[in-house]
Amino acid sequence: MNHEASNIKAHLVKGKKKIPIDARYGSRHSLLVRLLDVNPFVGNTEFSGLVIEFNGGKFELGPCRLVSEPSVDGYDGRLIFVSEVYDLQRLFFESKIVKLQDAFLNLPLILAHKDKIKQSFKDYTANLSYDLNVYKNLFDELDAEYAEEPEDIKKAIQKAIIDTEGKKFMHYLDDKLDELEEVVADFSKEEHERHGFYFRKQLWNFIMCSPIMKRTNLKPRGYAGDSEMMRMIYSNDYEGESTFSKLMQKHPLEQPGAQAVRNRRKIIAKTLTNIQNNYSDLQPEKFKVLSIACGAAFEMKDILLSPEDSEKYHFTLLDQDRSALSEAAARVEQIGKQLGAKIKVDYINASVRTMVATRQLAKKWGQFHFLYCMGLFDYLTPPVARAVLGTLYQLLKPGGEMLIGNFHISNPSRYYMEYWNDWVLYYRTEEEFMDLLRDVPSEKKSIFFEDTGCQMFLHVKKQTKEL
Ligand SMILES: C[S@@+](CC[C@H](N)C(=O)[O-])C[C@H]1O[C@@H](n2cnc3c(N)ncnc32)[C@H](O)[C@@H]1O
Repeated sequence: MNHEASNIKAHLVKGKKKIPIDARYGSRHSLLVRLLDVNPFVGNTEFSGLVIEFNGGKFELGPCRLVSEPSVDGYDGRLIFVSEVYDLQRLFFESKIVKLQDAFLNLPLILAHKDKIKQSFKDYTANLSYDLNVYKNLFDELDAEYAEEPEDIKKAIQKAIIDTEGKKFMHYLDDKLDELEEVVADFSKEEHERHGFYFRKQLWNFIMCSPIMKRTNLKPRGYAGDSEMMRMIYSNDYEGESTFSKLMQKHPLEQPGAQAVRNRRKIIAKTLTNIQNNYSDLQPEKFKVLSIACGAAFEMKDILLSPEDSEKYHFTLLDQDRSALSEAAARVEQIGKQLGAKIKVDYINASVRTMVATRQLAKKWGQFHFLYCMGLFDYLTPPVARAVLGTLYQLLKPGGEMLIGNFHISNPSRYYMEYWNDWVLYYRTEEEFMDLLRDVPSEKKSIFFEDTGCQMFLHVKKQTKEL
């Protein structure tokens, strides 16, 4: 039953009186109400409680007020809560009483958090916060001075400021990153987490100025590394409302970790093209490619450069995020239009966790000449990563190849990502990465790095004859 749309049995409580009503979901925090007894409703009447019954449950909510509203669908008014404010969506969909104020339950714990922070780290953060305030004020004041200029003049002035004082500010940020490395050098995993939390609370307003840092912290899709964040990393632009915002956006994008992501995108296209060149006699069969955790598949633009390219490939794109897959589909369609070609792509909305549990996957999806997976293994623990690799290996045709990316333990942007961006990855050494393959009887396996050295790639070739 859809409780949002239907009337629900309920009564208001006033003293000892129970006043029967028809109630309906009005908004996340209010109900539409029709009084069922004969007494006409008087606007702004307060009640000590509301009792709602549905799904066989009885839910007692606290003090509320009826606010008269011009008749909406024959309802007398809207009921709002005057003390505890309830989340009615959660109530109707999950039969759970959740109050807005519940967020404050952890308040003592959060406030006490600062007592466990090292003084050297507090000093570091306080100095950084002071300096950032000074910088922000200066940049904001400059923005205000030329705000009335025509758009193109404004752009030119902002560029001049970015190229001069902006560059110096970026160097200042670089120095502060070096200092952060020193301050946290001996921290345990738990200390990193605790100090990272404190850092972000202290610098929250600055973090919110940078579109990418805002998104990695708020994680609107529930995880860091969604397609919008990837778009920002790939476009590597000065995005943001003000000069200060633009600089706070560009600085993380210029870190080696972000450059490594841009590098790996090129590596996919290069590796794929090289391997495909070895299959010159495939026609009419297509070269079958599987991208695991494809995101919005930005690399399609690098791979598909001509109508002939579009002819060669049959792609399968898999991701657990439906929005990312829709973006990938839109991108493929756009490339197809530009090239005047039809591109063969299958989309699979699934998690690798269900993939490993699916039997006879190769029968279901077929086998692939080449498969690649970028930006996923950095989130997988060794047992899961090993299981996923084993499954991916089965999905290769005999002689097929796969390329898997993982950030290396030495990633110099690690603390930037963890402290500023709340972006924690599962780092590996070469040995740990290679060890994930220990149960896989490959013909060739090797590890190589992209130019920044942040990211490594495991390149595996399947045996030509299956055992
Ligand atoms: C950092 S992005 C990388 C996207 C793309 N490969 C790239 O390099 O641009 C990580 C992607 O992994 C996907 N992902 C995360 N966990 C997954 C899982 N368990 N199964 C399938 N996809 C997953 C996310 O939805 C996201 O699109």
